[in-house]
Amino acid sequence: MNIRSFEIPMVMKHGLGAVKDLANQAKALGMKKPLVVTDPGIVQAGILERATAPLKAANMDFAVFDTVAANPPIALIDGAATFYTAEQCDGIIGLGGGSSMDTAKSVGVVASNGGSILDYEWADPQPIKKRIPPTICVPTTAGTGSEVTLWAVITDKNRKIKFNAGGTGLIGAWVALIDPELTFNLPPHVTAGTGMDALAHAVECYTSSYAQPISDSVALLAMEYIARYLRVAFAQGHNAEARTMMSQAAMLAGLSYGTESAGAAHAMSQSAGGVHNVPHGALTARLLGPVMEYNFKGEPERFARIAQALGEDIRGLSLWQAAEKAVEAVMRLTEDVEIPSLQTLGFKEEEIPVLAKIAFEDPQTIGNPRDINVKGYETVYRRAFELGRQGRLARPVAPQII
Ligand SMILES: [Fe+2]
Repeated sequence: MNIRSFEIPMVMKHGLGAVKDLANQAKALGMKKPLVVTDPGIVQAGILERATAPLKAANMDFAVFDTVAANPPIALIDGAATFYTAEQCDGIIGLGGGSSMDTAKSVGVVASNGGSILDYEWADPQPIKKRIPPTICVPTTAGTGSEVTLWAVITDKNRKIKFNAGGTGLIGAWVALIDPELTFNLPPHVTAGTGMDALAHAVECYTSSYAQPISDSVALLAMEYIARYLRVAFAQGHNAEARTMMSQAAMLAGLSYGTESAGAAHAMSQSAGGVHNVPHGALTARLLGPVMEYNFKGEPERFARIAQALGEDIRGLSLWQAAEKAVEAVMRLTEDVEIPSLQTLGFKEEEIPVLAKIAFEDPQTIGNPRDINVKGYETVYRRAFELGRQGRLARPVAPQII
């Protein structure tokens, strides 16, 4: 018997200005004193103020934990959970990018289940037994999709890796409140990295051995939106249409995970992200093209379909040529939105053996569409470094019209 499942435990509310409805949403979930979990960049950008204004207007009591760091470590999450209990909070508002929303969900796991977040690293049987308290996730980037994913990614400094908690509806936010206006002032490099991360979620989930019709449907639409709108959002930060569609794309790509995991690009970026503390989006983006180049032989029909979703004309091409078009399209997009090379991100080629080894040990290796071992990961890393040196030489570039 092979019964598949797909779970969406949250309500999605979205639209320009949606954050103004935060107090209503919190009240509807029965919150009397939520803990707002965010990071210093959000405070500095004035976004915390925009989120708490409706709470103040509604005379709602709340506490703020605003020291989330990128790639949140275990101690930070456990500390925030202690603060949640000390402040006698009864709900959580995760405001920010993936790090803030993952911290919010993780605080919820500890608040409901006890102990440390380290106790809830994904395993069979599932260690998370109880639903997180009422939680609203408000994304301020369009990439991670954490507002709808059933995962949190936590850094274990001792093991120098990131691990996943979740894979169950119990960790999902109760409400995903998606306001594209909050992404208007993101700098282009953040727009690029986070948007490419969303593309990686869609591509990896669509080609994963866990794929099923409902994850296929959201993944393909996410790819279409990203191919059409990421360059525009990168070039015009205040383009409401591009920002709205990228917010939708990130959400759809997040949904494509279901309760499953991604593939080799995420196995590599999450494990490497434990070695060097670099932005997850840019790192994943740099690895996605080389991973697809390695993988397309396993699922040619699916890669050909990706090429179509990315806007490539595959008429008259053989199946294999069409599949390769998907790889080319992603490599071109990576360069167009100016994703930094692995070298620029601080990685060195001498690190390839260790990076390949820890990628292979990452549980996300299992769903990858092509068999891969440590040697395979070394090949992909070598190619990623090579592309970093070549830049646009990865693909012939049409002559510029002057
Ligand atoms: Fe990701």
